[in-house]
Amino acid sequence: MEKVVLAYSGGLDTSVAIKWLQESYGLDVVAVTVDVGNQPELEAIQEKGLRVGAIKVYAHDAIDDFIRYFIFPSLQAGAIYEERYPLATALARPLIAKILVDYARLEGATAVAHGCTGKGNDQVRFDVSIRTLAPDLKIIAPVREWGMSRDDEIRYAEEHDIPVPVTVASPYSTDENLWGRSIEAGILEDPWTEPPEDAFLWTTDPRRAPDEPGYLEIEFERGIPIGLNGEMLDGRALIGRVNEAAGRHGVGRIDHIENRLVGIKSREVYECPAAVVLHTAHAELEKMTLTKDQMRFKQLVAREIADLVYNGLWFSAHHQDLASYVASSQHYVTGTVRVRLFKGTCAAVGRRAERSLYNPGLATYGQGDIFDHKAAVGFIQLWGLPLQVQAEAQLLPGRTDFLRLGAPEADPDDSAAGPGARR
Ligand code: ARG
Repeated sequence: MEKVVLAYSGGLDTSVAIKWLQESYGLDVVAVTVDVGNQPELEAIQEKGLRVGAIKVYAHDAIDDFIRYFIFPSLQAGAIYEERYPLATALARPLIAKILVDYARLEGATAVAHGCTGKGNDQVRFDVSIRTLAPDLKIIAPVREWGMSRDDEIRYAEEHDIPVPVTVASPYSTDENLWGRSIEAGILEDPWTEPPEDAFLWTTDPRRAPDEPGYLEIEFERGIPIGLNGEMLDGRALIGRVNEAAGRHGVGRIDHIENRLVGIKSREVYECPAAVVLHTAHAELEKMTLTKDQMRFKQLVAREIADLVYNGLWFSAHHQDLASYVASSQHYVTGTVRVRLFKGTCAAVGRRAERSLYNPGLATYGQGDIFDHKAAVGFIQLWGLPLQVQAEAQLLPGRTDFLRLGAPEADPDDSAAGPGARR
């Protein structure tokens, strides 16, 4: 029989998918559970997959690759989607896609499958990545195809001896990995309602967070965090500890209206303590080590990368080009940032860098000032020269509006005025 490699989470959807792929497509199912920092029960998941009918279940620890090739480069880039979302789920999808393709090759499979619905971004990220890496593999998305309701699914599971989780179903749909947790659905779909406390798992309610602030000192080398409070740590331990410390202070909750790739506006709630802290600290260190021009241009690159990651275009030459720029920009982003965590807030309160561009002699208003005050006069003269010339030639003679404050008033007789225009 031909084989399909299925991304398997152990949940109801993908467990039902194992049976459904056998029945509807006549395929042998090889299940692959990818751990990106979200799977404490790998063995239980493996057992369940076999019991449901997979011919093999692989458990793949991808945490180190996730950190090295996805989390840290996105941190260096400053990639945050729509100024809020640190992209935890979006970053993990291309990695999972790559791992699926690797197992498909190993197993000689002709197809890969994933449990995404037809409404989200994740299906796009999986399908585009798989198609890019392995155009010959067939892609099957059972949940997108089968048209079963939740109740249908439970009935199907019961008929096929698939264990249905007995615990009270969470009112939310969640996804998590080392870089963050996303919470959707239920009451959260009402954008006017504040997210209830039971939506959060990683972060303390800021109202109940410690009354004393906590401090973290994060050491970076070329834009990569390597130490915490004076201790050298690998990425796994460092992100884990920052998640824990920041979560305790209620830091990392995000609530925003997000523009999905598939055209839907959705209310998204996240908790990403480590991502929020590390992005804050990293950006602060860049302020010490990058010039104004570098920072301005890098922000454009950051937005471009965030968008392409969100939109499922990870495996592209455009991304590689931008990533090269980011890597090069991090040459001197080495130093330490101290952040204060307090009742849901994270603020940088100290920063130092080996090759800092912050020059105390230039900055000071006190002793030891080396800035040439007299040079400012000539600089200002030339800086303002074009405006002075224009004002004298065009604006001062006859343009009465030029000397008034505020935007010029619309001409009431302007026939181009819109339907709301007053007569
Ligand atoms: N809105 C986020 C994104 O598109 C989170 C998606 C969460 N995925 C999920 N299957 N629950 O990246």
